Amino acid sequence: MTMSTTQHSTTDNDLVRLEHVSKRFGPVEPLKDINLRVGHGEVLGLLGNNGAGKSTLMKILCGFHPASDGTMYFEGKPVNLRSVTHARQLGIDCVYQDLALVNELNVYHNMFLQREPVHGGPLGILNNKRMKADAERHLADMGVNIPSVDVEIAKLSGGQRQAIAVARSVYSNARLLLLDEPTAAMGAKEGAMILNVIKRLRERGDVSVIIIAHNYAQIFDVCDRINLLREGEIVFDRATSDTSVQELTDIVVNEYRAATEAEA
Ligand SMILES: Nc1ncnc2c1ncn2[C@@H]1O[C@H](COP(=O)(O)OP(=O)(O)OP(=O)(O)O)[C@@H](O)[C@H]1O
Ligand SMILES: [Mg+2]
Repeated sequence: MTMSTTQHSTTDNDLVRLEHVSKRFGPVEPLKDINLRVGHGEVLGLLGNNGAGKSTLMKILCGFHPASDGTMYFEGKPVNLRSVTHARQLGIDCVYQDLALVNELNVYHNMFLQREPVHGGPLGILNNKRMKADAERHLADMGVNIPSVDVEIAKLSGGQRQAIAVARSVYSNARLLLLDEPTAAMGAKEGAMILNVIKRLRERGDVSVIIIAHNYAQIFDVCDRINLLREGEIVFDRATSDTSVQELTDIVVNEYRAATEAEA
C-alpha cells in the first residue's frame, strides 16, 4: 500500500514509464495494471498474441486513448496526454501502418510536411533546394535507400514508405518512436530496411523505440529488451541478452497449449 510513494525517484533513468495503467472499454478491460518502462535510447520489443492489448497500449502511449487508471511519466515527470498532437509536441511519435504520408507529393516534401520547425526558424523560409539537400542527407544518414527524393511517394514500396515515415519522425526530433507491426505484410527485403533503420537509431542512442511484431524472431536482434503481454498483463520482461528466440518460442507454445487445453 505504501509502495507507490517510493517509485518516483526510479523514473528519472527512464524516458517513459507507465505505472499501474489500465484501460477499460465498457465491460472489456484489455489492459490491467500495466507497469512498463523504456530507457533512454532503448529498443523495446512488445510481443503477445492477437488481442493481448499491444495496440491499445501503444494508443495510450501516443495520446490516442486516455488511460482509465494509472500514471504515465515522461522524462521523469507525470504527463496527461490530451491528444496525439500533444504527445507529438512532447516528442512521442507513432508510425502507423497507413503512415499519413501524402502519395501525390515527392519524398522531400513529405519529409517536411506538417512538422514543427526544427531548430532555426520557420519552415517557410526553407527553399526547395535546401529541403531537398536536407532530406537527402538525413535519409542517407538513416540508411534509407530510395531511388531519389524527387520521386512521388505513390511510386515507392511499402517498406520504403515506412522507412521514410520513421526517418521523418526522427528528423522532427522525436524522442520515443512507437512502431505497431512495421514489418507486417512486407517482403523480407522491405522488412530488412525497416530493421536497418531501427539499428541505426539504436547506434545513435538518442531515440527510444517500442516495436510490436508478431514475428519476434525477425525483431529479436534489434531489441534491447522484450516484454510479453498476455491478456492485458505484462508477464515477461527480460533483456534480449538474457533470453533467446528459443525461450520465447517455448513460452508461446506453452501458452498455446494452455489455451487449447482450457477450451477442450
Ligand atoms: N476501441 C475499442 N473498444 C472496445 N474494445 C476494444 C477497442 N480497442 C481494442 N479493444 C479490445 O481490446 C483487446 C485488445 O486489442 P488490441 O488491438 O490492443 O490487441 P493487439 O494485441 O494489438 O492484437 P493484434 O495482435 O491482433 O493486433 C481486444 O479484445 C479488442 O477487441
Ligand atoms: Mg494490434
